[in-house]
Amino acid sequence: MMRPSVLAAIRISVTRDAETGAAIDDHLIGLTASDSVEFEQYLVLRQALERLHAASGVSVLAITSATVNEGKTTTAINLAAALARNRQARVLLVDADLRVPSVAIQLGMIDWDGPGLADVLADPGLPLTDAIRRRPTFNLSVLPAGQLRDANPYELFQSTRFGSVVAELRRAYDYVVFDAPPAVPVPDCRLIEACVDGFLIVVAAHHTPRRLLAEALTIVGPEKSLGLVFNRVDAPFRGYYDAYYGYGGYTSRGRARR
Ligand SMILES: Nc1ncnc2c1ncn2[C@@H]1O[C@H](COP(=O)(O)OP(=O)(O)O)[C@@H](O)[C@H]1O
Ligand SMILES: [Mg+2]
Repeated sequence: MMRPSVLAAIRISVTRDAETGAAIDDHLIGLTASDSVEFEQYLVLRQALERLHAASGVSVLAITSATVNEGKTTTAINLAAALARNRQARVLLVDADLRVPSVAIQLGMIDWDGPGLADVLADPGLPLTDAIRRRPTFNLSVLPAGQLRDANPYELFQSTRFGSVVAELRRAYDYVVFDAPPAVPVPDCRLIEACVDGFLIVVAAHHTPRRLLAEALTIVGPEKSLGLVFNRVDAPFRGYYDAYYGYGGYTSRGRARR
């Protein structure tokens, strides 16, 4: 097995109030405490990305991990915020985890029920610009997941529309950061791979089973692996069946997942 390099090790150990899921949570330090020492870890990651951008033209990247709850969304939001710290950079954050979307909720965009990526992919007549929200305070644009309705995410990613949407985003932004689904339990990353320059693979310290990480690395493939991000997740590890097939359910600890 090839060994991708570790680009960053994220250590944040603040706890989150699960009752206030709508609020920007403490781990999104890129948006709430961007002068903190913790945020510097994301600036390190940003630097690694800027080097890849300059050396190999990497501008469209996806964040994945072997399974759920490893910190993909947290990493995607904080990395996008770090890249957007450069006021000259045009940065877009895309929620591509269409089955379990959480970017909009984690960003507190609770009043937003307009179209998102799923809608744009399902309806080629819908302009991308109708689905992109600008967050001027953070110099960040966001393309939420939108509504899947009856659509199948795999088919949406397989459509030629997905390729043309990514091409359009590539022209409009310096960096496009996809919050991707987990690589192992669902097949979406195998399709997303064709359109992105590379993946960052988040590994939850002490959580990600070695076998699943190896599987994720096989799925992503060496030519599309930009590197690993070690992340420390304080939430209890839950199996993907729970998260992917128990939509909106409560965990054994009695908390809403979203
Ligand atoms: N470095 C970290 N330290 C502490 N908690 C974290 C960290 N990264 C993520 N979390 C928390 O762990 C949970 C899962 O993270 P999330 O980014 O939503 O994972 P994923 O997108 O991979 O499912 C969230 O409650 C998040 O706030
Ligand atoms: Mg997520």
